Amino acid sequence: MSKRNRSLIQLRDLCVDYKKLRVIDGLDLYVNRGEIVALMGPNGAGKSTVLKAIFGLVPVSGGSVHWQKNRVRPRPDEMLSRGAVYVPQGKAVFGGLTVEENLEIGGLSLKNKQEKKQRIADIISLFPILKENRKTPARRLSGGEQQILAIGRGLMTRPRLLLLDEPSIGLAPKIIKEVFAQIKEINNRFATAVLLVEHNIRSAMSIADRVYILKQGQVAYEGKNNQINNPILKEIFLGEG
Ligand SMILES: Nc1ncnc2c1ncn2[C@@H]1O[C@H](COP(=O)(O)OP(=O)(O)OP(=O)(O)O)[C@@H](O)[C@H]1O
Ligand SMILES: [Mg+2]
Repeated sequence: MSKRNRSLIQLRDLCVDYKKLRVIDGLDLYVNRGEIVALMGPNGAGKSTVLKAIFGLVPVSGGSVHWQKNRVRPRPDEMLSRGAVYVPQGKAVFGGLTVEENLEIGGLSLKNKQEKKQRIADIISLFPILKENRKTPARRLSGGEQQILAIGRGLMTRPRLLLLDEPSIGLAPKIIKEVFAQIKEINNRFATAVLLVEHNIRSAMSIADRVYILKQGQVAYEGKNNQINNPILKEIFLGEG
């Protein structure tokens, strides 16, 4: 299959403005089916904005978004029905609701009750920590557990593309390792493509197939995971080189 046919989402010359400020400036990026792509870069580079633009949470002011072969004008409901899911930065769970109720919310768009039940059971069996706590209010879970729950909730619709913003934020190193192992597991099992925004370079590189580094709304580096090296990272993150 050619590269083009395998592409699930593609951004061409994308621009996003916040009022007069151009924060994404002519971005070209693609994620193939089943691929894990890491999106890295300094604070304020525009990483979260890219995920929001794909999911239709911020308006695009130039360029285009393509889902498989079709040009789309992203809106959250429409992107959900195409198979994209957005898991925002910062353990976004409903604290007063139990683990199970949080998962139910992820499956709101599912009409069939039996199917919803089955999916909750599937996700709970994928993440033992959720199984033990299925009746526990989410606010009583640890940070890592809440992050897993946020990802689990995103999986309720069996997405083809998971847009994950900083899943490691605020987590201890050991937990980060577990969360990333589970992201990889989801990718292996369901061929879910992942566009992963991540500060923790080592974690991102441990599971990514390809990497983009963003700087001031533009691609500063793009390549296979194994092509990236310390001098490149130093130049981009520290301005050395
Ligand atoms: N709602 C908004 N209104 C105005 N400016 C915004 C808004 N959201 C983000 N920005 C600005 O857009 C730029 C990109 O922000 P974005 O959140 O995409 O960066 P980021 O790469 O995700 O950063 P971080 O690593 O800190 O999460 C920043 O300069 C930010 O200040
Ligand atoms: Mg961000």
